[in-house]
Amino acid sequence: MDSFIVCGGRRLHGELSASGSKNAALPIMAATLLSAEPCQLHRVPDLRDIATMTTLLESLGATATRHPTEATLAVDSSAVEQFRAPYDLVKTMRASILVLGPLLARFGQAEVSFPGGCAIGSRPVDLHIRALEAMGAQVAVESGYIVAKAPRGLQGAEFCFDTVTVGGTENAVMAATMARGKSTLRNVAREPEIVDLVQFLRAMGARIEGEGTDMLQIEGVPALHGATHEVMPDRIEAGTYLVAAAATRGEVKIEGISPEVLGVVMDKLALTGAEITSGENWVSLDMKAQRPTAIDITTEPFPGFPTDMQAQFTALNAVAQGQSVVVETVFENRLMQAHEMRRMGAEIDIAGDSARITGREQLQGAPVMASDLRASASLVIAGLVAEGETRIDRIYHIDRGYENIEGKLQCLGADIRRLAT
Ligand code: EPZ
Repeated sequence: MDSFIVCGGRRLHGELSASGSKNAALPIMAATLLSAEPCQLHRVPDLRDIATMTTLLESLGATATRHPTEATLAVDSSAVEQFRAPYDLVKTMRASILVLGPLLARFGQAEVSFPGGCAIGSRPVDLHIRALEAMGAQVAVESGYIVAKAPRGLQGAEFCFDTVTVGGTENAVMAATMARGKSTLRNVAREPEIVDLVQFLRAMGARIEGEGTDMLQIEGVPALHGATHEVMPDRIEAGTYLVAAAATRGEVKIEGISPEVLGVVMDKLALTGAEITSGENWVSLDMKAQRPTAIDITTEPFPGFPTDMQAQFTALNAVAQGQSVVVETVFENRLMQAHEMRRMGAEIDIAGDSARITGREQLQGAPVMASDLRASASLVIAGLVAEGETRIDRIYHIDRGYENIEGKLQCLGADIRRLAT
């Protein structure tokens, strides 16, 4: 398993381009199962999770071919004849559950290994199942598999989600595109990645209204055709580099992303004392070599502060001026990076879903271990600002969601290298 070696103390400076969004590309790849015609996806990031979803689509009988030099994926689901997402793939990537809705909608059947929990929480899928049952699916759990059947097809339905769920919204809206009649989905997720998925589905011929609001209305159609789509930029990747620049008192410009997509993350960065400027398709942060000011964070579904940016801001607060409180309300166990940061001298007290942080002028490099994707990124940020060397083990977590992170950071002046161990 590879490790990163980071030598801290350097201010980041320079420019980089945002990659395509992992959390938009994954549901969009699953959505290609809805059509028997080929789809062309552009700005698909080169990530482990994308490779896993590609393998899953191919195991179902689709072909998914990445262009040798461009970030383009050509998917053809015309020959799909398998409807089972196996355990060995689902256990490596929970987002495999996103094939459930499309397979059910197009083929009337699907078997997906019941995704277990992960480091950040139990990650149930009860709401995915209840939404599909509302559309007439018969769903059972047999020998660790979710077995869903709709022999007479799906029926449009009214459904309200008890909890806002990104994946549950995605499975339900994909299923509803080919259900008979109209579906109204309430208390749905409003993330930009949902908007991007809906735009792709509409390009395939789906009839959907309300994306970005808490209610989606879908008029089912008999079939969907192929489409071409450019995946939106990754707002979490971009936010991670902006936080890294702020924590190291440096400056960075990120091309290919709009400030609107970053939303409240930009507001929070401004509160740290950063000078934020932006244009239609770029954002820039400059700390003017100043130490950031600590800021309180509470995670919430979009448009609230994104849980996927919480660990990165915890690292920023660990070296900021002043005290702060970080509250994680979306997942039940997503403060684990704090334990590793304490090994680097961070002053963080955890009580329940909250971390109380007293910023330190300096952290000390130390060997630490990544536990999940965003916690890994926060440990890289901590290593960038720590005195001395930090070794981060189990960085396969980070390769799931950050395209060439060491290369991008090296371009910004960081001293980081990958150690194949
Ligand atoms: C998506 O996960 C993202 N993953 C996550 O990003 C992100 O953290 C999360 O949304 C929240 O924004 C992808 O898009 C591939 P949820 P998802 O269903 O869909 C509860 C990353 O780092 N819930 O919105 O699995 C659940 O327990 C990853 O890129 C139910 O109770 O998240 C959680 O508390 C990590 N029942 C809350 O909803 C259900 O049936 C939000 O989870 C489903 C969810």
